[in-house]
Amino acid sequence: MNAELNTTRAIDLREKQIRVAPSLLAADFAQLGEQVSLIERAGADVLHLDVMDGHFVPNISFGPGLIAHLRPHSKMFFDTHLMIAEPARYAEAFAQAGSDLITFHIEVTDKPADVIAEIRKHNCGVGVAINPTTNVDAIESVLPSVDLVLVMSVWPGFGGQSFIDDVLPKVEQLHGMLSHNQRLEIDGGIDPTTIAKAAAAGADTFVAGTSIFGSPDSAEAYRNLCKCAAEAASG
Ligand code: DX5
Ligand code: ZN
Repeated sequence: MNAELNTTRAIDLREKQIRVAPSLLAADFAQLGEQVSLIERAGADVLHLDVMDGHFVPNISFGPGLIAHLRPHSKMFFDTHLMIAEPARYAEAFAQAGSDLITFHIEVTDKPADVIAEIRKHNCGVGVAINPTTNVDAIESVLPSVDLVLVMSVWPGFGGQSFIDDVLPKVEQLHGMLSHNQRLEIDGGIDPTTIAKAAAAGADTFVAGTSIFGSPDSAEAYRNLCKCAAEAASG
């Protein structure tokens, strides 16, 4: 069974509803505070935080320090995506910085239960992520232990890439495997067209960076994505 999601935020991610999670990676780093407030005022209740270490992925983004600075200024659920080689080593730092859920990549460990235990130890929700060519059977054994599964629809490391349609069958497969209080998140290349495909396949949480923060009106772009996802999910 999944442990209670211990979070000080009022949002309980287990409530099964469509959620768009703006990815901070695509925001203007010269005015992050304002960008976070803007998207929160637009109605976002989950913020996706892409952490990159330059080892697991060929890019470096930000660390727990940035998250700690943002934490007091936002009530959003901090959905922290660790694209790093040693997630267990840094779980405590990201939890203390204010992450509500920490997602690690199955590709970085042959002991996922240890990583999950370490994240849980710091009262964080737990997610597991799979890259575009990683099969569902790589995470089957840990599914009962996580709160969220993240299916990468681009190769991790950069925003602004094109959606990889080949991952959709994995979304459909996972949709039938997860319980009602587990989230199925898709991440990368999400825009009004691809979000519809992903929602139709069974995803319920959609990470979007470029299509929100790259838009002249980020608030409207966020609201439009929510609308597209809800329409597609209702079939
Ligand atoms: C990529 C990240 C994604 C990315 C999404 O490694 O995990 O969250 O920032 O950005 P877009 O929406 O631009 O693909
Ligand atoms: Zn991400």
